[in-house]
Amino acid sequence: MKDIIILGIESSCDDTAVSVIVNGKIKSNLISSQWIHKKYGGVVPEAASRQHVESIVELTETALLEAGILKTHLSAIAVTRGPGLLGSLLVGISFAKALTLSLKIPLIEVNHLYAHLMSLFIDNEPNFPILVLTVSGGHTQLTLMRSFFDIEIIGQSIDDAAGEAFDKTGKLLGLAYPAGPIIDSLSKAGKAIFKFPISNVADFNFSFSGLKTAVLYFLREQLNKDSEFIKKNLSDLCASIQTTICQTLIQKLKLAAVRTQVKAIGIAGGVSANSQLREELTLLCNSNDWKLYTAKLSYCTDNGAMIALAGYYKFLNQEFAEDTFQPLARYPII
Ligand code: KG4
Ligand code: ZN
Repeated sequence: MKDIIILGIESSCDDTAVSVIVNGKIKSNLISSQWIHKKYGGVVPEAASRQHVESIVELTETALLEAGILKTHLSAIAVTRGPGLLGSLLVGISFAKALTLSLKIPLIEVNHLYAHLMSLFIDNEPNFPILVLTVSGGHTQLTLMRSFFDIEIIGQSIDDAAGEAFDKTGKLLGLAYPAGPIIDSLSKAGKAIFKFPISNVADFNFSFSGLKTAVLYFLREQLNKDSEFIKKNLSDLCASIQTTICQTLIQKLKLAAVRTQVKAIGIAGGVSANSQLREELTLLCNSNDWKLYTAKLSYCTDNGAMIALAGYYKFLNQEFAEDTFQPLARYPII
């Protein structure tokens, strides 16, 4: 049978990422992260689009070279359609459209959240059904996956995403953007001695805006008494915030697993790289005899491989896109 070779392109936010996969196996996976946003404390959309324009051509050429694939060998190109920043998405989509037109190959549009789910199966064979919690900078979503194409949303955040909770509380602590990985590493030297509220909204939904407000008021009060409070307690503050976020997520995952009787759990998205979340979930799954699906760290945060793999399964399903499709800032997974 002819090899199925997919080029995957991701440009939904502040990372340009390109990957080449052959018959579902990763041959190259490159990323160009944009550091320009650090000094602004968050992603500046206009700057992000410009950086995508600058890096996408060279990154694609290098990804093909590293995979040992000529562009004329490609079976199809998969690209993120949304959700994300419109200007950023437009760069990847326009590039993918132009390339597929010139190569006369099919174009595949991919939902970024669907691709995060697929990141779990880059190195793992799925045994459905699986409960997957996607925790990223923009989304917190609990899904029940019955197959690659039968997905049901059973819960989500009613306000901030888990990644935002890390990034926004980190900003209050004076940490650079994105604060999630910094909090993760500083927490290792700290203890969760400060107690913040663990939200418990209805069903399998989540809420994180209360944590941000609780941290804000707590810091204000403490800084009034001692202006060095954050500096003196940074690791403990990080450990306390991280513990609160992990407990909020784990409490709902546990409830969902018990109620649905599903014996496999997955975590995807940038926050799934968090070491405490991974450790605590490993313990929970071991003690209940549930299987845990996690992605390799480089596949947790945004990457091209997950787009390419999602594209591969859509290719097998013959799900191709018209070259007139537009980017979507909001794009529900189902
Ligand atoms: O999936 P992702 O790369 O982009 C989105 O689709 O949003 O996720 C980025 C988010 C950021 O909020 C970042 O702070 C968080 O993932 N993140 C982490 C860690 N690594 C990335 N949060 C906690 N611990 C980490 N180790
Ligand atoms: Zn993402």
